[in-house]
Amino acid sequence: MTTDRIETLLDEQRRFAPPAAFSAAALVRDLTPYERARQDREGYWADWARQLEWMRPWDRVLEWTPPHAKWFVGGKLNASVNCLDRHVRAGNGGRTALIWEGEPPGDERRITYAELHADVNRFANVLKGLGVRRGDRVAIYLPMVPEVAVAMLACARIGAVHTVVFGGFSAESLRDRIDDAKAKVVVTADGGYRRGAVVPLKQNADEAIAATPGIEHVVVLRRTGQPVPMRAGRDRWWDDLMAGAAADCPPEPMDAEDPLYILYTSGTTGKPKGILHTTGGYLTHVYATTKWVFDLKDSDVFWCTADVGWVTGHSYVVYGPLALGVTALMYEGAPDHPGKDRFWAICAKHGVTVFYTAPTAIRAFMKWGPELPARHDLSRLRLLGSVGEPINPEAWMWYHRTIGGGRCPIVDTWWQTETGGIMITPLPGVTTTRPGSATIAFPGIEATLLDGEGREVQVGGGYLAITSPWPGMLRTIWGDDERYRQVYWSKWPQTYFPGDGAKREDDGYFWILGRVDDVLNVAGHRIGTMEVESALVDHPAVAEAAVVGKSHELKGQALAAFVTLKEGLQATEPLREELKQHVAKKIGALARPDDILFSADLPKTRSGKIMRRLLKDIAEGRALGDTTTLADPAVVARLKDQYEAQES
Ligand code: WT7
Repeated sequence: MTTDRIETLLDEQRRFAPPAAFSAAALVRDLTPYERARQDREGYWADWARQLEWMRPWDRVLEWTPPHAKWFVGGKLNASVNCLDRHVRAGNGGRTALIWEGEPPGDERRITYAELHADVNRFANVLKGLGVRRGDRVAIYLPMVPEVAVAMLACARIGAVHTVVFGGFSAESLRDRIDDAKAKVVVTADGGYRRGAVVPLKQNADEAIAATPGIEHVVVLRRTGQPVPMRAGRDRWWDDLMAGAAADCPPEPMDAEDPLYILYTSGTTGKPKGILHTTGGYLTHVYATTKWVFDLKDSDVFWCTADVGWVTGHSYVVYGPLALGVTALMYEGAPDHPGKDRFWAICAKHGVTVFYTAPTAIRAFMKWGPELPARHDLSRLRLLGSVGEPINPEAWMWYHRTIGGGRCPIVDTWWQTETGGIMITPLPGVTTTRPGSATIAFPGIEATLLDGEGREVQVGGGYLAITSPWPGMLRTIWGDDERYRQVYWSKWPQTYFPGDGAKREDDGYFWILGRVDDVLNVAGHRIGTMEVESALVDHPAVAEAAVVGKSHELKGQALAAFVTLKEGLQATEPLREELKQHVAKKIGALARPDDILFSADLPKTRSGKIMRRLLKDIAEGRALGDTTTLADPAVVARLKDQYEAQES
């Protein structure tokens, strides 16, 4: 065993009880919520839902016709009222809702609940004026600026369904999402700042819209100020429209089960899935988890570093914190701009108390060194969170000591785009944590481990499974209910299959090990191998492509592609670059492969199936597994030599 491995094992064995000072002031101080939820799960969730404001009470808490759940049946509410109006009415309009920090240093805004309320009302009127009605879809393609929250909440106010597309996605990805959702309006910006450069959002949006029939209007926010073409009759400036809009827009009473948003995520086919979330259950779930997992009080400044283009941003930058009425921080740019200590400078400047980020970021911070956080006063931090991928014990320990000063509990939270909110997590005032373990299910969530036959695994390895419906669960895949049944509900009867492998120890703690399907997690972003393969074979030079994940020190996983060129074409360095660029253009830079290996053949079974397992062994530099089922075992040996030659 290597010393690294021994250290990891020792770290995993360590136990961190919540510090007494933290527990004494925590919202949850004992195990009664777990007990309460076990005895009456529906009653427990109804207690949470009652903390929201309803326009009409529900008749039934849950209607479960597997695989379809309805929560708070018959109830009516509006998400924007819950995030804004009720706080203003309660006299908290002067409280800061969003602290915004732009990427160019010095760019800063503080927005109160009353101001956000007024802007959301105005923008809701703007959308109405552009012909957006209840149930219509609006695509949002914006940088991390307060207007992204304004646009989302304005949709919610009038009952329109938003679909936010991450600004790092390409024009083609945006077009696919607009088409699938049949969006009518796009909200975008001239550009956005990223690592000092400008992302040409309007230009991408124009390209996307040129190839899609349904878009009637484009609202363009001025952010970077660079000139962009505006098409008469279709494109309108955000500030012009806002200047003419009334600051009062009555909220639409929405059914608890009315759609709130669609968010696209990668699956095992080339086509991303439109995950549909509805209103009452989703808001209840994110409200509850924001409150208890992050232990948030009025005095806190909560910073979740995720982009609003991902579910983490939806649930823990916008809906959760605002439903709770606390102060959330939003940062526009990269962690290393202008310096690699930007995050810590922001924490110190704004007195961040609760900080939530991804392991890939933590590993980058480790590499950049402890001197950077040491330059800043991080003493206001009292709780740290992790999300998006398994956190290795070494990164956990570093986060605990170097960022948390040894005094902050760490909540490692497991969940997914599909689950809407956090599912497996410590409660920071009560749970003894172990580095690398997400611990146990949140009260009211029922998780276990099953084997392929659906038998429960008490201790050992298995598939993670959720055995009863929960309020924030996805309701379907937009436009494809059959795929919804197939992907999530066909492995075991009436049980949700998240696609993750996990192990459980005798203390009942879960250790999430990662995806068991053809989905990769690159720097906390979910990427389907099929999507990248489709992008590669779309290039005229490519005959065939196979993409696998390989371990990467910082990103967790990186993409390795094996490409067969069309007859007679020469494998060259410029072509390799061109193919990487092609993938970035088709999907977005996040899907750009790290390695491309050209190969005359790919290892296939006698029935013609590509043996990804062997390609993975090659990419990882492991000894080759069983090759006896291959049509031509020599192919894989050749590939391995070639790969190793390229690496060295
Ligand atoms: C996948 C979901 C949920 C927000 C961000 C990602 C992995 C997520 C953890 C964690 C181990 C984790 C899983 C999951 N994952 N959190 N704490 N420990 N793995 O959302 O893009 O829908 O990806 O991320 O593999 O299935 P997503």
